[in-house]
Amino acid sequence: MFKVFIKVMLFSLAVTGAYTWYSNSIPQVTSKPPEDIGDLIKPETTSDDLVKFGKKIFYAKGQCTLCHSMGTKGDRAPDLANAGGMAAKRKAGMSAVDYLAQSLYDPNTYVVDGYTPTMPAVYKNPIALSDGEILAVVAFLQSLGGKVTVDGKTKFAVAETARAKVEKPADGPEGLMAKYQCNTCHDMKGTAKLVGPPLSDIGAKKDKAYIKEAIVEPAKVIAEGYPPVMPADYAQKVPAKEIEKMVDYLAGLKGGK
Ligand code: HEC
Ligand code: HEC
Repeated sequence: MFKVFIKVMLFSLAVTGAYTWYSNSIPQVTSKPPEDIGDLIKPETTSDDLVKFGKKIFYAKGQCTLCHSMGTKGDRAPDLANAGGMAAKRKAGMSAVDYLAQSLYDPNTYVVDGYTPTMPAVYKNPIALSDGEILAVVAFLQSLGGKVTVDGKTKFAVAETARAKVEKPADGPEGLMAKYQCNTCHDMKGTAKLVGPPLSDIGAKKDKAYIKEAIVEPAKVIAEGYPPVMPADYAQKVPAKEIEKMVDYLAGLKGGK
């Protein structure tokens, strides 16, 4: 038994060694990391090149074939063999290209009959395609039974609106408090004394100027009975616009009064 183990070990060492030797012996060019297609997509990229790039992304990084079939009826997701032709007829009043872009950025606004809304927004994790990569995928889908109308310069309005939809909560003042972890030291809803004083009624006690100073120059005034541990670098780390938003929000917190 032990002998077999040793043999296996030696064998795998030999194999690893051979690979190392082999990859070191081939010229530099081939040991470059695999090319990132996203970097190749530029405003001057032609429609034909986009289609080629899009096809590669579709079958690899995009993971589209995990769910979609090509040329057979799909159980998990619609067959995309005629995606370009299909897209023109899906939604009345919507062009093929807009329909495809929407399918990728904001898939759940229109759900194909007979399927569940499990199509992921592919610009988000885990697939995380860049705008350029999505553009290429749209070109490839258009080429399947339709006409390719996009080139490297095309921009999709839905890219912005889809992002605005998901990014909104984090942009609001409560999202900012969470982002900068104010709520790990301050009770924002009740009156608990955590590391710092509760802020749920700060607006009833202090004005905007005081609140702002407490955030950007916390060492200047130390709230009585608390240690001076409020981080001093918010003024550097947090954009001025976000500080204003937090100040306005805090000034409005009056403990329900
Ligand atoms: C986890 C499974 C899954 C993955 C991965 C996935 N899709 Fe989908 N897709 C679906 C499902 C389910 C639908 C149908 C429901 C809907 O319309 O939202 C769909 C719908 C679509 C549609 C609309 C089809 C129609 O007939 O109207 C397009 C276009 C599409 N997907 C493209 C893609 C592309 C391109 C990728 C890869 C970048 C991809 N999908 C990755 C599940 C997936
Ligand atoms: C590591 C803990 C900690 C974090 C994180 C923190 N604070 Fe503080 N904060 C304190 C402490 C302790 C005090 C009281 C001492 C002082 O005044 O510096 C305080 C004081 C304050 C005050 C003044 C309160 C009063 O009654 O005078 C405000 C307003 C405030 N913090 C807002 C914030 C905001 C907004 C954030 C996030 C951007 C934040 N704090 C993040 C610990 C923290």
